[in-house]
Formats: sequence, structure tokens, C-alpha cells
Amino acid sequence: MLPAVIAPSILSADFARLGEEVDRVLAAGADWVHFDVMDNHYVPNLTIGPMVCEALRRHGVSAPIDVHLMVEPVDRIVPDFARAGATLISFHPEASRHVHRTVQLIRGEGCKAGLVLNPATPVEMLDYVLEDLDLVLLMSVNPGFGGQAFIPATLDKLRRVRERIDASGREIRLEIDGGVKPDNIGAIAAAGADTFVAGSAIFGQPDYAEVITRMRREIAA
Ligand code: DX5
Ligand code: ZN
Repeated sequence: MLPAVIAPSILSADFARLGEEVDRVLAAGADWVHFDVMDNHYVPNLTIGPMVCEALRRHGVSAPIDVHLMVEPVDRIVPDFARAGATLISFHPEASRHVHRTVQLIRGEGCKAGLVLNPATPVEMLDYVLEDLDLVLLMSVNPGFGGQAFIPATLDKLRRVRERIDASGREIRLEIDGGVKPDNIGAIAAAGADTFVAGSAIFGQPDYAEVITRMRREIAA
């Protein structure tokens, strides 16, 4: 299993002080920055784009930026995010006409590629493409908003995807996104996740380091 990664979702950060918030959460022990891109088309919300990613790089953020695209179409925006400093780019297969082509596009731009499965998207969506991925992102809420409750059926799905990743023999990360908190992260890790997105659970508390430390303790337990 790969070492655990904590990726705070800046969707729940104070956007008026974004650079400062990202500095604070990284200083508190976060590994990656999870960057939620919503277009008011694929999902019913509107957030941030490549300019904000680029601004964070210019601000001095050197940690991996984990871009989660909830946009349709996907391909047009990929080169912009690569240029803006994205490390990983994940997308929803429902938002791309040619899933394998989009994966190739992301990798061709020098980024790592991830595929995102919504709560009702079957794991078979990974057939024929898993070996070309760097990451599988399982949504444990329906995409669009922070602060929703973790959907319990995702635990079984995590186990099924973990089996597939292990059978592939490749170093593919298994990321979970939605409703992750210190009190369920232990069960989520036991089901096979190694990369943990958390928005409201971290940014909703005054002491980010305290939450992240508690999460790491639960993951290791
Ligand atoms: C939802 C986003 C998540 C979200 C997680 O569409 O992809 O990254 O911000 O927020 P919490 O941790 O609050 O569920
Ligand atoms: Zn996300």
C-alpha cells in the first residue's frame, strides 16, 4: 500500500484569503491541495479555474495540486490546467466522450491522470483504462457541494476497486472524496483508500493540524 496522503479540499476554505489558507493547511501537515473545479453544467455549482491554480503556484505553493474536474466538456480545459501548474488531473467519464483519449491527453500534458467514479457509477467503468491511470477517485457523495454525508455503500466499492488495483500490480492511488471525517476515516482506510480528501472536516475547525493529526492516527490504527 502506498503511504497515506491527506488532500484538503479548498472548496471549504475562505476564498477571500485562499493563499493564506493553503499555506496554513500545508503547514498543518497536509500533503496535497485538492482543487475542486465546478462549471454549473456538469454539476450545479460554480467554483474556480486555471487562473486560481496559477495564482497559487505564483504565491509559492509547491505541494502537489490535485485538480478534480467536474466540468463538461473536459478536454478543452486540460492543457490550461497543465500550464497553470496542476500535478494531477482527474475527470468524470460521463463528462468525456472518449475516456481513454482524455487520459492520454492529461498524460501527454505531463500530468498524472485520475478517473472519478460517482456513487452510482459501476466499477466496471475502470475496464480497459485502469492500467493507464495514476489514480482512481471514488466519490462518496454526489459531486457539487462540500459538507454532505458519506454514502456508506462506498466502503464496499472501495474494497472492490482496491482488489482491482492490487491485481493490476501497478502503483495506482485510490482516493476518496466526500464526507470524510476523523470518525470514519479509519474504516475508509481499512476498506482500501490511501488518499483522503476532506474539506469541511478540516477547514470547518479552527486547528487544522489537530484534525490532520487525528486523521493520520485513525488511518494508522
Ligand atoms: C464535492 C467535492 C469534494 C468536497 C468535499 O463535489 O469534490 O472535494 O469539497 O467536501 P467535504 O469533505 O466537506 O465532503
Ligand atoms: Zn473533489
